[in-house]
Amino acid sequence: MSNTEHGSDDAKYVIRTEEMNLWYGTFQALFDINSNIKEGIITSLIGPSGCGKTTLLRSFNRINERLGYVRINGSIQIFDKNIYDGDVELSQLRKQVGMVFQRPNPLPLSIRQNVLFGWHIHNEKSERLSRSEQNDIVEKSLREVVLWDKVKDRLNDKATFLSLEEQQKLCIARLLPVKPKVLLMDEPCSALDPKGTEAVEELIWRLRGEYSILIVTHNMAQARRASDECIFMLMGKMIEHGGTEKVFSDPQQKETADYIEGRYG
Ligand SMILES: Nc1ncnc2c1ncn2[C@@H]1O[C@H](COP(=O)(O)OP(=O)(O)OP(=O)(O)O)[C@@H](O)[C@H]1O
Ligand SMILES: [Mg+2]
Repeated sequence: MSNTEHGSDDAKYVIRTEEMNLWYGTFQALFDINSNIKEGIITSLIGPSGCGKTTLLRSFNRINERLGYVRINGSIQIFDKNIYDGDVELSQLRKQVGMVFQRPNPLPLSIRQNVLFGWHIHNEKSERLSRSEQNDIVEKSLREVVLWDKVKDRLNDKATFLSLEEQQKLCIARLLPVKPKVLLMDEPCSALDPKGTEAVEELIWRLRGEYSILIVTHNMAQARRASDECIFMLMGKMIEHGGTEKVFSDPQQKETADYIEGRYG
C-alpha cells in the first residue's frame, strides 16, 4: 500500500479507514482498507467491475446496512468520529454524508418539492420554515447546481420531466440544504450523454472546496480530468492512492499500471 506516503502533513482528512473489512454473508468484498481521504478535494475511485468501489462508497454513509447480511470490522472515521460507534445516529450521519446514484432518482414531485424534501426529512416539524425561507433554500440550492435560470419559471413542474442531466443536477441540489460535508457519487454521469457528462463534471468541479467529494467512475478520462486524488482498487483491495496525475503517469504498483494501460476489463 502506498497511501501512507501521499499528501502533505497539514492536510486535513475527512474520512479515514483502518483495517476495514466487509462481508456480504460469507463473501468477503473488502480487505484491509486503510485510507486517508482529504477534505475539500475530489477523490476518484477506479478499478475493474466488481472490485468493490460501490461497496466501499456505500460504507461511508452506512447505507450497506440496509442489507441485513452485511458485516464490517475495522474502523471508519468521518471527521474523527467512528461512524460505527453505538452513539452515532444514522439520520445525523446521512445529513453529513450525502449520496448521488448512477441513475438520477428524483421523487415524482415538483422541482421545488424535490429540493425541500431533504430538508424536511432531516428537520423537526417544529422548525417548519416560512414560505419565503423555503423559497430562499430552493433558489440557493438550484443556483449552486447551475439550474436556477433554467427552471425558475417552472418550479412546480414535475422533476421527472427534466432531462437526465438536469435531473442529476437536481439530485445534487436536493442534498445541499442540509449542508453535507461529504458527497458520495457512484458513477453519477453513467446515464448521461457526453454533453450532460461534461455539464455535471463541471458542476462537481464547482462544488469542490466547499464539499469533500468521492466519485466512483468507470471512465478513466473522467477520473483523470475531474479528480485531485485517485484510488485504484482491485479484488476488494486498495492497491494505490495518490495524486491523480501521478497515479496515471507514474503509478507505483504494477497492478495500477496494468489497469491504466487497459490490461484488465
Ligand atoms: N448486495 C450484494 N450482495 C452480495 N454480494 C454483493 C452485493 N453487492 C456487491 N456484491 C459483490 O461484492 C463485490 C464488489 O461489488 P461492487 O458492486 O462493490 O463492485 P464495483 O467495483 O462497484 O463494480 P461495478 O464497477 O460493476 O459497479 C462483487 O463481487 C459483487 O458481486
Ligand atoms: Mg459499482
